[in-house]
Amino acid sequence: MVKEANDLTVSNQISTGDDASRTKGQLAPWRSPLSRALHRNRALAYARYGQLATVRADGRPANRTVVFRGFLDQPDGLDWNGLKFICDRRSAKVAELEANPWAELCWYFPKTREQFRLAGKVAIALDGQDTLGPVRQQTWEAISANAQTSFYWPEPGQPRAEQAAFERQEQPVEANQSSLPPDDFVLLVLQPLEVDHLELRGEPQNRWRYSQTEERAWQSLEVNP
Ligand SMILES: Cc1cc2nc3c(=O)[nH]c(=O)nc-3n(C[C@H](O)[C@H](O)[C@H](O)COP(=O)(O)O)c2cc1C
Repeated sequence: MVKEANDLTVSNQISTGDDASRTKGQLAPWRSPLSRALHRNRALAYARYGQLATVRADGRPANRTVVFRGFLDQPDGLDWNGLKFICDRRSAKVAELEANPWAELCWYFPKTREQFRLAGKVAIALDGQDTLGPVRQQTWEAISANAQTSFYWPEPGQPRAEQAAFERQEQPVEANQSSLPPDDFVLLVLQPLEVDHLELRGEPQNRWRYSQTEERAWQSLEVNP
């Protein structure tokens, strides 16, 4: 199931019909500078960490570091240009995103000294029953055994549990046999609708704003830093 707030379904969120055929297969214009930044900063493991901000029930912001898990491209033939993240279903961010799918990722690349701010809606893949199910499964298989184990830990944010509760392991998976992700394993996909790219190099610095129009076409504008 892909869950979203306000009863929006995924098909409400992404292009359908004529729109889809127009945008199908097209990379958003910010993809190329972002991919370049990832490539040029590839030696820095922490260049794959961004800060994902959400909105709490009381309207206050919530922000935390997350690891970028790659782009989601057309799992269903539609153009997502999505960014993948994983998290625990029991973590606060999931409830926040269920109530309000808007989020912003702020991402700094130290080597090239540039910042991307990607704002959009987040789709939440909770199980294997929908379009994102296979992607959720692949993402589960791609993470380390250690990272997998953390999804069997006691509930995040609750008072610290006994050490033994962290040592319970799932049955080891036999070689060449992939395991199904546990229910608490969630795939988040941020679908940017607005991207702000600031490059500190240069005098003056360089800044571009990308936004998606009502018709789902992308507009690019070079703006003052
Ligand atoms: C370097 C780093 C990477 C992290 N990566 C993730 C991640 O990919 N997913 C995640 O849910 N939490 C990640 N965390 C933990 C979150 O920052 C946060 O503490 C946790 O998810 C609870 O957030 P929440 O209560 O707002 O949901 C990471 C923390 C650090 C310091």
